[in-house]
Amino acid sequence: MSRFAVAGATGRLGRHVVDVLTERGHEVVPVARATGVDIITGEGLTEALTGVEVIVDVASWHSSDQEAATEFFRTSAHNLQEAGRAAGVGRIAVASIIGVDKATAGFIAAKKVHEELLLSGPIPVRILRAAQFHEFVGQLLDWQQGDVAHVPALPTQLVACRTVAEALVDLATDQDAPTPGTPIPEIAGPRREILAEAARLLGTRRGVEVVPVDGSGIPDAEIAAEGGFLPGPHATLAGPTFREWLDTRS
Ligand SMILES: NC(=O)c1ccc[n+]([C@@H]2O[C@H](COP(=O)([O-])OP(=O)(O)OC[C@H]3O[C@@H](n4cnc5c(N)ncnc54)[C@H](OP(=O)(O)O)[C@@H]3O)[C@@H](O)[C@H]2O)c1
Repeated sequence: MSRFAVAGATGRLGRHVVDVLTERGHEVVPVARATGVDIITGEGLTEALTGVEVIVDVASWHSSDQEAATEFFRTSAHNLQEAGRAAGVGRIAVASIIGVDKATAGFIAAKKVHEELLLSGPIPVRILRAAQFHEFVGQLLDWQQGDVAHVPALPTQLVACRTVAEALVDLATDQDAPTPGTPIPEIAGPRREILAEAARLLGTRRGVEVVPVDGSGIPDAEIAAEGGFLPGPHATLAGPTFREWLDTRS
């Protein structure tokens, strides 16, 4: 049994990371402002990391604004590395996004900075890049007003947060350093989907009409349309599909 701090423990992904770690018999320190720990101001962070062996970083900025998200991840990476080093933390495992290496703008570009800054710190870092979450589709609908939602008809390979959490915990508990030259691991759902079609499945249940639109206006839409944010050949693909996942929730 090890002691893990989960930064972002109350989030969509974080709550599953907490569940998986707990089910596997580990001790979890939940880190979120809701639990009195702020990774940006540093409030409560030193105390929270006492005796912690591994930090799992699944904290996130709440909007897609690139500049604000970059500032959040720059500060969080610095604070987790510094407070973690002072506390004797042995490694950090972080959730990132498939395609960060191709992104030029928007939230995904901010995640590239997140990866780089975490990797530049003293504590060894393991990265897991995930596809968009099944849970992200609901967030997309929540962001739009009224009973009509405009959703880009872009390819994606949606994956369940629980599936990502299991893979991230596998990585976080792996004490062996990765073999040099090994690509950064990726996790995605079992099949390619069109984001607007997945949103329509959910919209039907919520009474929201989903209108597919092209990606113009969203960052790196051309790269997305060409499949730039789809998993690579080395990715782990794991269910449930979006439809199976939805069916378990109604
Ligand atoms: N959404 C996707 O489809 C997707 C896909 C691939 C990878 N990812 C990555 O997965 C990670 C988790 O995403 P998510 O969608 O699960 O995020 P989320 O639901 O927005 O959760 C964010 C978490 O961060 C915490 N947090 C925010 N500000 C904080 C602060 N100042 N101090 C401490 N905790 C703070 C929040 O808790 P409080 O508000 O209580 O502080 C919450 O627990 C992110 O790095 C994201 O980039 C997301």
